[in-house]
Amino acid sequence: MGIPATPVPLLDARNLHKRYGDKPVLRGVDLSIYPGQVKAMLGPSGSGKSTTLRLVNLLERADQGTIEIDGRRLGLVGKPGAERPAPERIVAKQRQVVGMVFQQFNLFPHLNATRNVMSGLTTVRRLPHKDAEERAVAMLKRVGLGAHVHKYPSELSGGQQQRVAIARALVMEPKLMLFDEPTSALDPELVGEVLRVMEDLAREGMTMLVVTHETQFARRVADEVVLFDDGVIVEQQEPEGFFDNPQSERTKEFLRHVH
Ligand SMILES: Nc1ncnc2c1ncn2[C@@H]1O[C@H](COP(=O)(O)OP(=O)(O)OP(=O)(O)O)[C@@H](O)[C@H]1O
Ligand SMILES: [Mg+2]
Repeated sequence: MGIPATPVPLLDARNLHKRYGDKPVLRGVDLSIYPGQVKAMLGPSGSGKSTTLRLVNLLERADQGTIEIDGRRLGLVGKPGAERPAPERIVAKQRQVVGMVFQQFNLFPHLNATRNVMSGLTTVRRLPHKDAEERAVAMLKRVGLGAHVHKYPSELSGGQQQRVAIARALVMEPKLMLFDEPTSALDPELVGEVLRVMEDLAREGMTMLVVTHETQFARRVADEVVLFDDGVIVEQQEPEGFFDNPQSERTKEFLRHVH
C-alpha cells in the first residue's frame, strides 16, 4: 500500500479582501472546502457572506487574496509570481466549474422549466438541442419535477421554481455548488421540499457551500459551520460544537438571537 495522498481542497480561498468605496466588506477571509464536504455559512446581514460567494463564482474580483479551485488559481493565468488577469474566455470556463443558486431563483420568465434548465447546455456548452433537452428533463425528474417540465415559472410555486433553478445549475455538472439563502424567499410550507433536494445532493457527495438561516438544516447536513461577522470568519467548527459549545462570544450572541 502506498502512502495515502494528502487530500487537496476543492476550494481554497486565502486572505480575501474586498471593499466597496471606502467600506471594507471582507477583511481577510480564509475558506477551504474538501471534495464532498458541505459547509454552512451563517452570519448577520452585511457580514460578507454573499460577497464571498460572488468572489468564488467570479462575479466579482477580490482586491487582495487568492482563490484556488482544484488547485487552479481563479481569474488568473501565468506562472506563480507573474500572474495576470485571465482573458474572459478562460474566466467563462472557470465559472462553469461552480454552480450557483440564488435567493430569487432568477429563472427566465419566458422559458418553460425544460428550456430554463437546458439554456446553459445549448448556449455555453453547445450541446445539440435534443441531447440538452433529454438531460434537462432527467435533471428535472431528479429534483421531483417530472410532472412539471413544460410549465413556465409563473405556473410554478416558489419551491418548484427554486428546484428548477437547482436543476439548471446541476445540469452543467459543476464540481462545487454555491447556495445563497435558497429558501429565504419561500413561504414556510415550501422550504422543506427545497431543503430535501439539497440534502439528497449532499448525501450523493456534492461539494456545497450554503449561506442559510436554517440552523436545523446546518446542524443535520453540514460537515462544518462558519460564522461570518463584519467581513471576517469568527468561528468555524463541526455543527455539534458550533451550536452546542461555541467558542467565540460573537457566536454565542448570534445564536441567542437566532433561537
Ligand atoms: N455592489 C455593492 N456596492 C456597494 N456595497 C455593497 C455591494 N455589495 C455589497 N455591498 C455591501 O457589502 C456589505 C456586505 O454585503 P453582503 O451582501 O456580502 O452581506 P451578507 O452577509 O450576504 O448579508 P445578507 O445576510 O443581508 O445577505 C454590505 O454592507 C453591503 O451593503
Ligand atoms: Mg447575502
